[in-house]
Amino acid sequence: MLELPILQNPKQDTISLMDSDIPLLANQPLLYVETYGCQMNVNDTEIVQGVMHKKGYSLTNTPDNADIILINTCAIRDNAEKKIHERLNHLKYYKKKNKDLVVGVLGCMAERLRENLLEKELVDIVIGPDEYRSVPELVEKAFGGERGIAVKLSRVETYDDILPFRTEGISAWVSIMRGCDKFCTYCIVPFTRGRERSRAYSSIVQEVTSLYDAGFKEVTLLGQNVNSYMDEHSGNNFAELLRACAKAVPHMRIRYTTSHPQDMSDKLIETMAEFDNICKYIHLPVQSGSNRILHLMNRTHPIEHYYERIAKIKELMPGCALSTDIITGFPTETDEDHQATMELMKIVRYDGAYMFKYSPRERTKAWKMGDDIPDTLKISRLNEIIHQQNQISYEINQQTIGTIETVLVEGPSKKNPLEWQGRSDTNKTVIFPQNENLAYIVGDYIKVKIARATSATLIGTVV
Ligand code: 5AD
Ligand code: SF4
Repeated sequence: MLELPILQNPKQDTISLMDSDIPLLANQPLLYVETYGCQMNVNDTEIVQGVMHKKGYSLTNTPDNADIILINTCAIRDNAEKKIHERLNHLKYYKKKNKDLVVGVLGCMAERLRENLLEKELVDIVIGPDEYRSVPELVEKAFGGERGIAVKLSRVETYDDILPFRTEGISAWVSIMRGCDKFCTYCIVPFTRGRERSRAYSSIVQEVTSLYDAGFKEVTLLGQNVNSYMDEHSGNNFAELLRACAKAVPHMRIRYTTSHPQDMSDKLIETMAEFDNICKYIHLPVQSGSNRILHLMNRTHPIEHYYERIAKIKELMPGCALSTDIITGFPTETDEDHQATMELMKIVRYDGAYMFKYSPRERTKAWKMGDDIPDTLKISRLNEIIHQQNQISYEINQQTIGTIETVLVEGPSKKNPLEWQGRSDTNKTVIFPQNENLAYIVGDYIKVKIARATSATLIGTVV
């Protein structure tokens, strides 16, 4: 059974990860982990920290005083990897300062590049997403001068029994499954995260309950394709898991990501509609509006199926916010295909979208299709969809003016510390005045009347 760590102050420079029953070692090594990429990686970092916690390591949130620096990486697009290579180059500075420093690469890039990463003099250890239990052992060996690699993918590893180390007290990420079996032809994830496997149903419900008891206000269930969640023992699917969580913690907000249109069942949409505490926001990646491209991408459904799922969502939850992922410049994409995507966006009217230009990934099927769309064309199509989406987001957000949103208070606004920010049920950032008379604190639910809106945020006053 999972137990939650005592909440720590993330502002503190050095956070002791010690439980009272673990003896505190003098001069114990300090661990610093930096996370790139998706939310799964954020939770994976917490898992690695949880594993190291058990072994008696302490955690620091700056590389300056660290004895171990681990970089949890992303390999989804070439520019994500470039950024990490640059960061690794910067880390040479710390290694010069401290000859005994251990540097490790974790995550999808570790899995993809394997021993090639050890060619970098700086890197001591390379550990893939299914080998996080071996982090302490490899770190210890690295302290003894032995470099190491662990990149085996597993069919069963779900880290079900590992207590993730969480530092923030409002929102928690909970991985419910790992890996992906969809094999979209552009995507490296099935190669870096391996086969799909689900965590035990009861352990997830228990973790969500413990998070509520520990004071968390919101939980996001995570997986590459949560809709295909299936607990082998109980036979429970994702809709059933979501229902069980919603019932177990009726005062906690529940979110989930990511969905695949093929597996987005009626039952799931009905369950979302039934429970007030399941947030009315769905991230439903479409990738392209063209059937020809969807087929080449192996998305396993025609666009008509996608439209039908959207119609069902809008029918059962008229106010539900929607977002998506779109790729421009997939091999052979014509202007006609691109226009089909533009058209789709106008019909669905997403609240938001994550938009990318196609990046060829070695080992994937699309890699063999060539990369025939010139970069300039990929970028101009990308700019066109971004521009259109901004306009749609702006129009949708204008319609919220005058409405009252229930907002979970997150704290001072990132842009202007004189204002505060929070999140609406529909996952929109809401800005409101700083709290002068202590009428609300971080983690409270408050009502905000929206006065203004941009394409990215709603701005209002507390009522
Ligand atoms: N190039 C560009 N975008 C990609 N994505 C996944 N693989 C690639 C790629 N090779 C995008 C998809 C996916 C999101 C997580 O990243 O849109 O939904
Ligand atoms: Fe990649 Fe497709 Fe799996 Fe998403 S569903 S992780 S895009 S292979």
